[in-house]
Amino acid sequence: MKHLLSTADLSRDDAIDILDEAQRFEQALAGREVRKLPTLRGRTVMTMFYENSTRTRVSFEVAGKWMSADVINVSASSSSVNKGESLRDTAKTLRALGADALIVRHPASGSAAQIARWTNDGSDILGVPSTGPSVINAGDGMHEHPTQALLDAYTIRQRLGGLDGRRILIVGDILHSRVARSNALLLSTLGAEVVLVAPPTLLPTGVQTWPVRVATDLDAELPAADAVMMLRVQAERMNGGFFPSSREYSVRYGLSDNRRSMLRDDAVLLHPGPMLRGMEIGFDVADTPQATVLEQVRNGVHVRMAVLFRLLASADEQPSHHTTITT
Ligand code: CP
Repeated sequence: MKHLLSTADLSRDDAIDILDEAQRFEQALAGREVRKLPTLRGRTVMTMFYENSTRTRVSFEVAGKWMSADVINVSASSSSVNKGESLRDTAKTLRALGADALIVRHPASGSAAQIARWTNDGSDILGVPSTGPSVINAGDGMHEHPTQALLDAYTIRQRLGGLDGRRILIVGDILHSRVARSNALLLSTLGAEVVLVAPPTLLPTGVQTWPVRVATDLDAELPAADAVMMLRVQAERMNGGFFPSSREYSVRYGLSDNRRSMLRDDAVLLHPGPMLRGMEIGFDVADTPQATVLEQVRNGVHVRMAVLFRLLASADEQPSHHTTITT
């Protein structure tokens, strides 16, 4: 696997291998004071974020650093992007500067795949043959966010023991959510039954081709759910307004404490973050034992370590968790 652009590119075996590798990283680092593995020493990982991020950017940086990679963050606001440099020229510049991996977040759907093509066009750099970097999609517009889906699958598997046959609700603004698409594809690949619960106005055209069932009545779906993933309403992608209104939305689709009590005690409650408490999720609901919000964040580091390992470690390299922890 050269790039990670979409969960559609992952077979069931690929996905399980990544989750298993993430679990081995978690076990290898558990209880260690010094969380440092030599696995990616000498590799250079660059992040290119053209949209805001807390969890994804920081956890990729932590993952790279825990594996001894050199991690360099390039933000749109402090780079030459602000002087008008194009995405193509920026990506090719980072390739020339020695990126082994480019981790990309951008508001345009398809941008990560385009960067993979531009930076892997077979060209030499100053006459020296050079393979291009691996590109990891860290969120491209309304399209995909594959590492978020992997960490969500990891978290559900960890809580429930497996995904096969589990009924997982994805609730809310499906239309603008790259998390929803990546999860719908990945969770169904892993054998789960995925149900999208949303007002019809917040469903994408073409949703009937997704491997999911669609529902509009959240109250009817909650009692039989094994896991519920609440999504943020992405007002920034809505040009100022949406239907239903935010108040109606919150009443009909928000996971209030009353609604949470309709869930089984062993059901899992996920949110990718950032959360709008009081909108799609009740103020205190994210702090209940069913909620996995901070577990998801923590698991994101181990999952991203597994992805970087899969893309960057050479075939003859020892699995990192078999190597010595260094200081
Ligand atoms: N879940 C997620 O992508 O969060 P950030 O936008 O903070 O990276």
